[in-house]
Amino acid sequence: MAAKIATPHLMTLADLSVPQINRLLAHSHYCKQITKPWLEPQVYKPTKRTQLRMPSQSLFNKTVALLFSKRSTRTRLASETSISLLGGNALFLGKEDIQLGVNETPRDTARVIGGMTEGIFARVGDHEEIEELAKYSPVPVINALSSLWHPTQVLADLLTLHEHSHLFTKPDAKDDTPDYKNMQTSVKSRKREKPTSLPELSPLTISYVGDSANILHDMLVTYPRLGHSLRVASPSKYRAPPEVWKRVEELGCDKGIWWGEDPREAVKGADVVVTDTWISMGQEAEKAQRLRDFQGYQVTEALCREGGAKPDWKFMHCLPRKQDEVDDEVTSWFCL
Ligand code: NVA
Repeated sequence: MAAKIATPHLMTLADLSVPQINRLLAHSHYCKQITKPWLEPQVYKPTKRTQLRMPSQSLFNKTVALLFSKRSTRTRLASETSISLLGGNALFLGKEDIQLGVNETPRDTARVIGGMTEGIFARVGDHEEIEELAKYSPVPVINALSSLWHPTQVLADLLTLHEHSHLFTKPDAKDDTPDYKNMQTSVKSRKREKPTSLPELSPLTISYVGDSANILHDMLVTYPRLGHSLRVASPSKYRAPPEVWKRVEELGCDKGIWWGEDPREAVKGADVVVTDTWISMGQEAEKAQRLRDFQGYQVTEALCREGGAKPDWKFMHCLPRKQDEVDDEVTSWFCL
């Protein structure tokens, strides 16, 4: 008897190999360019042929349940629009419709939803909830954010970095002056690229200043494997939990990570500085304590200049943002 093939799930990017991550990025870049060419007019010259192309309708006649027990703007928009782009039907089930484990067990919920749909994209509270869902679901489950991981956000960040790779100083350029000449050459050469190729990204120094939460955890298991160095500053009481470090070490990512408490040290040599909210969804009761604990961790232009970030450093935030973790000046001038 043939062995039963296990249903694939995506809980964190640690579940994917580097070629799988690169394939996803290349395909996303391709879909984005053929369906939304106006987003990148400087690198995209529509031709008759590419204007008519659509991505393969791989979700035709398929329904994907969007099981969201927490609020969402970007992830919900992105999932609903991309499912429809691939010819599928997105079925949104908010917390008024279903609350995992409240009126029935995750096991029963997984079986019912999995019996009538072809996939589940779930945003949950505690990470255990999505593990339970995946354990019993007959169809693939993708994590749309849990307390521990946020894989789709880090994929989106990576796509943004690739698509802006021409902005980063080349590794062999002089230390403190941006190499404008090379940057212009690289923009020109991108103009000649075919619309379908994902721009290459040289190894970057990526700094993270703030809370060790779901976004950072997926960065930890991903960026070092792709050749980027990760420098993190977070108060020691918020250090990533053991289950995250286990995945980091299994993948050999620990060698590419510097971890400390000093934000100035963390931004040293940074090409990109990243942060996230200090108070994630579900942590509202800890707000006062967290605001005290993260004093000094706000990303500002002065912090990055004094800490020695590259002169042309860029900033990324998954949003929604609060002024607490990053000031307005940074989001006006340095944002990707
Ligand atoms: N750490 C944040 C990410 C929001 C996209 C949260 O979990 O609320």
